[in-house]
Amino acid sequence: MSCPDAAIRPLDPDRDLPALSAFLIDKDVSRLNLCLKAVADGHAFILVAELNDQAVGLGIVHTAPRHDQGWTPTWGTWEFLQAGDAYLENIEVKNTLRNQGIGTRLLNALETEARNRGKDRIWTHTGEHNTGAQRVYERHGWQHKQTLQVPWQPPGRPSRVYCKDLGGIGCASSRISEWPAG
Ligand SMILES: CC(C)(COP(=O)(O)OP(=O)(O)OC[C@H]1O[C@@H](n2cnc3c(N)ncnc32)[C@H](O)[C@@H]1OP(=O)(O)O)[C@@H](O)C(=O)NCCC(=O)NCCS
Repeated sequence: MSCPDAAIRPLDPDRDLPALSAFLIDKDVSRLNLCLKAVADGHAFILVAELNDQAVGLGIVHTAPRHDQGWTPTWGTWEFLQAGDAYLENIEVKNTLRNQGIGTRLLNALETEARNRGKDRIWTHTGEHNTGAQRVYERHGWQHKQTLQVPWQPPGRPSRVYCKDLGGIGCASSRISEWPAG
């Protein structure tokens, strides 16, 4: 299957929210609206993949810790937003357009933008069951650092912590050494 000619660009809320809301689950639409505050303050960026004038994928990256994002103060996203860190909160492609290279384009653009913003490494969590996302990360050089129980998932639903080195200085792992195992 050939890769559709998706363009990657910053989110335009007025134009893109209706299209994104049509395929994101309600929780992710709420998160997106919360993240827009961080974007407005320069603490996050959101890129969309556009195909035929419609947003068909998005990626959200935080570049600074904030108190208004609903993060737990310990063992959560906060831990992964120390100086030099970026954190990928979500990447999603419309279900019917997956496995055609759009996620790869988005991920490349997100990593490039994080690097351009001076970040040395980018972190994310993904469910232990989410083997599709894990393959995409690992093909892109992300390292599986640990498997653990994150506070926002119910017990028995472990998550993987992934990191990609953007600045050539490696992924410091000391902050996750004391985390509970999944
Ligand atoms: C993870 C996700 C964003 C990947 O997006 P995607 O557009 O499917 O990603 P790609 O198409 O670039 O890569 C997926 C697979 O398609 C393959 N592929 C890419 N281009 C292709 C093409 N032109 N033809 C055939 N296969 C292709 C890739 O090699 C990859 O194969 P793999 O699964 O064996 O590694 C998508 O699966 C998704 O939205 N998942 C649900 C949300 C989610 O779990 N997000 C992660 C949150 S942690």
